[in-house]
Amino acid sequence: MIDKSNQWSDCLIELSTMVVPGSQHIEDKMYHPPEGLQKDAHVPDFNCYLELYKKSIEEPDAFWKEVASDFYWKKPPTGQILQYNFDVTKGNIYVKCMEGATTNMCYNVLDRNVKDKNLGERVAFYWEGNSPDHHEAITYGQLLGQVCRCSNTLKQMGVRKGDRVAIYLPMIPELVYTMLACTRIGAVHSIVFAGFSAESLCERIMDSQCSILVTADGVYRGEKLINLKQIADEALEKCREKASATVTRCLVVKHHALRTQDGDVANTLQVGPDFDQNTDVHLPSTRCPEYGRSSTIYHLPSTIYHLPSTIYLSEVMGQVSEHCEPEWLDAEDPLFILYTSGSTGKPKGVLHTVAGYLLYTSLTFKYVFDHQPDDVYWCTADIGWITGHSYITYGPLANGATSVLFEGIPVHPHVGRFWEVIEKYRVTKFYTAPTAIRLLMKYGLDPVQKYDLSSLRILGTVGEPINPEAWHWYHEVIGQKRCPVVDTFWQTETVRDTFPFFGVEPTILNEHGEELEGEAEGYLVFRRPWPGIMRTLYGNQERFENTYFKKFPGFYVTGDGCRRDRDGYYWIAGRIDDMINVSGHLLSTAEVEASLTDHGAVAEAAVVSRPHAVKGECLYCFVTLKDCREFNRTLVDELKRQVREKIGPIATPDFIQNAPGLPKTRSGKIMRRVLRQIARNEKDLGDLSTMADPKVVEVLFNHRCETA
Ligand code: PRX
Repeated sequence: MIDKSNQWSDCLIELSTMVVPGSQHIEDKMYHPPEGLQKDAHVPDFNCYLELYKKSIEEPDAFWKEVASDFYWKKPPTGQILQYNFDVTKGNIYVKCMEGATTNMCYNVLDRNVKDKNLGERVAFYWEGNSPDHHEAITYGQLLGQVCRCSNTLKQMGVRKGDRVAIYLPMIPELVYTMLACTRIGAVHSIVFAGFSAESLCERIMDSQCSILVTADGVYRGEKLINLKQIADEALEKCREKASATVTRCLVVKHHALRTQDGDVANTLQVGPDFDQNTDVHLPSTRCPEYGRSSTIYHLPSTIYHLPSTIYLSEVMGQVSEHCEPEWLDAEDPLFILYTSGSTGKPKGVLHTVAGYLLYTSLTFKYVFDHQPDDVYWCTADIGWITGHSYITYGPLANGATSVLFEGIPVHPHVGRFWEVIEKYRVTKFYTAPTAIRLLMKYGLDPVQKYDLSSLRILGTVGEPINPEAWHWYHEVIGQKRCPVVDTFWQTETVRDTFPFFGVEPTILNEHGEELEGEAEGYLVFRRPWPGIMRTLYGNQERFENTYFKKFPGFYVTGDGCRRDRDGYYWIAGRIDDMINVSGHLLSTAEVEASLTDHGAVAEAAVVSRPHAVKGECLYCFVTLKDCREFNRTLVDELKRQVREKIGPIATPDFIQNAPGLPKTRSGKIMRRVLRQIARNEKDLGDLSTMADPKVVEVLFNHRCETA
């Protein structure tokens, strides 16, 4: 088993995690995983890990061929398993895995399990709703049937191989049905986290020219009801305004949790049967019986707004067959697009392809979590992020795993919800983010001690560096000192893993692109691809090459700083570009600045990070107002609301400070280093000789925000 727990130092995290036994040392103390875990593990000791790692680097073809032999290929590959160019000076960057082979992702994660492995009766997901009263177990056999129905629905809507489908859904089974239906018919899903705003959804739909949008009528997040369909309508309306209305159909999931036992719709969400009949799908009636008495219209008829036809997913799924032949795709055909923040502010459509992603997510899942057949695995991420794509849907299903699919939040209806769910399903492997751990630590031991956590075997963390205090709490209170903590560093783009996982070769470069030996600090880069690395940015190969490969030809540049200590361990030091990691989610400072300057009162804005006890980092914004505009509480609230509406709640600034002037170089560049120090109240600012007007610094210190 790979044990990826780390050594810690302030806010740094070890990239190179060690393998059992005896390899975990946190703050000079060694932590050993229990013997029982090692004995039956896929990788029982360090030598075994080293042997496999060496093979993956020295004989990649043989290594990946063996991994591929677990899966179904309609046609085998014709050439070398991994082909690539990582050097921009030698031509376009490309990576190909299993060239010439044909396969289908959905077939491999479902049909193969149901038919070849006889796992039809095994539970694929325990769905646990926002309310503990809502839950459902879905077997592999049932999942296959639903996915096929959903595939046939999409086909009826005219979706074909290569078409893009936007999915804006909460964590409900239909999200999994829809994404797998896309992969079954060769469509490319573009999932947009259901916490994003209408503006963000519109931007993503437009960038990848989606032809269908799948959403839900609404969802409860904790106590709060969110009218998703209304946000989706606004997004489509915005697309239309921008003359980019590619979406022709809007499929809506009726979220049953919104309905009372009598079939009433929760009265705060007004849902009604105004749906357009003008579709080529036969719908039995516009009014669905379970709507009962409720017939309130919650958006105007689509004919007025010229919105695309809206169709209830369940109605069509109920009419179509539960069999659907998979589309056999080329190994390098696109699988999905997922947007991540870019330093210019415009989100980047990261594109992953079929075969490499299948091999890599299935292998990382199997080894990092040491997957065993009797496991109940739970990753608390949202499928709207890469962690959810890889480690809720594809990785676990490819291994025939049983997982929890959780719709709720950690503090609803009480702060012990995570621990209650672990007890309820006897979860053995638990994967969450440092920000969630820090949040739950605040409530002390009581909420944890009420529940039986003895089923847990391995704990995982992802998304940002974990601080020693949170690590100790996780290890001692949740893992009860017997569960190894695996820390997984990776990115939307890379789909790989902290420790040089099989096939991954990290190195550190200095500013001049020279490789550093021994103890060193610099840019974390990778010398070669592995199957699960992104292939391009959708529709923008040039931006892809400029962002990741131009700075240091021959290497993939992560954008993270890294240190190698004298023992040879790698530690992630956080982002070195203009990105801020808030609660494990990357946000672009440029994007937040753009939404602030969109406000009529703001002349200029600069956003930096400030440490935050729960979120890790939060947004600290400096705004220079236009003449005659007054800085007051109302304006601050308006600006916060504006960013929230433009990007989404995760981007809501914690601090907005009045900045009559910004520190700039003589050439007019904002000196962010100085702003960061002001935000953190660090008085020793170092060399300010390049600053055009050093007086602004004192003014900014005087206007500093102490509290949010
Ligand atoms: O800065 C690193 C940080 O998150 C970035 C990737 O973010 P995203 O593409 O949203 O994917 C998040 C899920 C993998 C990285 O460049 N990061 C991610 N995991 C860790 C981390 N930083 C430290 N430790 C981690 N385990």
